[in-house]
Amino acid sequence: MRRVKPAANNAIFVAEDGGEVIGWIHVGVAFLLEVPLRAEINGLVVGDVSRSRGAGARLLEAAEAWARTKKCEGMSVRSNVIRGRAHTFYERNGYEHYKTQKAFRKPL
Ligand SMILES: CC(C)(COP(=O)(O)OP(=O)(O)OC[C@H]1O[C@@H](n2cnc3c(N)ncnc32)[C@H](O)[C@@H]1OP(=O)(O)O)[C@@H](O)C(=O)NCCC(=O)NCCS
Repeated sequence: MRRVKPAANNAIFVAEDGGEVIGWIHVGVAFLLEVPLRAEINGLVVGDVSRSRGAGARLLEAAEAWARTKKCEGMSVRSNVIRGRAHTFYERNGYEHYKTQKAFRKPL
C-alpha cells in the first residue's frame, strides 16, 4: 500500500500488485458542526480484474488507520443505490446502512 500526498486533511492510498496500481481510496476528514469528527470515503475503486482478492478491504483498513491518526471517531461513505455489491462489501467490513438520501447540485 502506498500513500499519495493530496490536500491537507485528505489522503489517497493506492493498492499495488507487481508494481501496478490496481485500486485506490480517497479519504478526508469531514468537519461537520453537528456531529463528532469523522472521516468520509470520497472514492474507492478496485480494477475489475483485481476484485474479490481483498484489495478493497485492505484499502479500507488503510483509510481507517489514517482516520484514527486524525482523531476521527468514525467513518462514513455515501454509495449510489445502484451499487449493490459495494453495499454488501461495506456491510461485511463493519459499516451500517443508517440513512438514505437524495442528492442535489447546482452549477456555479
Ligand atoms: C466495492 C469494491 C471497491 C470492492 O473491492 P474488492 O477488492 O473486490 O473488495 P474485497 O476483495 O476486499 O472484498 C470483496 C469480495 O472479495 C471477497 N474476498 C475478500 N477477501 C478475499 C480473499 N482474500 N480471497 C478471495 N475473496 C476475498 C469478499 O468476500 C467479497 O466477496 P464478493 O466478491 O462476493 O463481493 C470493488 O468491487 C469496486 O471497485 N467496485 C466498483 C466501484 C465501487 O462500487 N466503489 C464503491 C463506491 S462507494
